[in-house]
Amino acid sequence: MGDNQEKNVDNSRRTWLIATSVVGGVGGVATLVPFVSSMEPSERAKAGGAPVEADISGLKPGDKMTVSWRGLPVWIVRRTPDEMASLSADTSQLADPDSKHPFNYPMPSYCENPYRARVEHKDLLVVIGICTHLGCIPSGPFEADIVPALGNFPGFFCPCHGSTYDMSGRVFKNKPAPKNLDVPRYMYLSDTHLVIGKDEKGEA
Ligand code: FES
Repeated sequence: MGDNQEKNVDNSRRTWLIATSVVGGVGGVATLVPFVSSMEPSERAKAGGAPVEADISGLKPGDKMTVSWRGLPVWIVRRTPDEMASLSADTSQLADPDSKHPFNYPMPSYCENPYRARVEHKDLLVVIGICTHLGCIPSGPFEADIVPALGNFPGFFCPCHGSTYDMSGRVFKNKPAPKNLDVPRYMYLSDTHLVIGKDEKGEA
């Protein structure tokens, strides 16, 4: 794939690939040095985990795209109104509804809300898509009443041992996974671009 980054956009009903070139090195964007290659993710960026920029202009309600950051799949999900409504409907079945016990990355303070998202685009979920049980990649998002293990909640399902997460990546009670999906630091560069691994305080 070279330095081009392929982003996988899918939802529970349809899957397609958008092969697009993402200018991943934020440093390259900021400095605008005169070498085109410097505007693409460098080997150092890939290995060291430099921030990665994502173009979300094509992301429609119900869509999910995956961006690689530090070798981890980071999901960006544009939630539907129904999925948003599900987040505050009933939190009694969640193990850690307020995300007080993060997994590997501290919860960014600006995401300490039921949406686990920045308020300027609270419909957009940004989480690390790795199950906190043994590291499988969950499937989804699924609408309500499609996956029996999720019942009438929309969310994500880990096929390895059955853990389920709501549409904010919060794990349900009595599942093998002990923690919610991690939220990385991120910030918006515009309404159509965000950067993962960096916020107003600097790089993660
Ligand atoms: S790895 Fe996901 S439930 Fe075990």
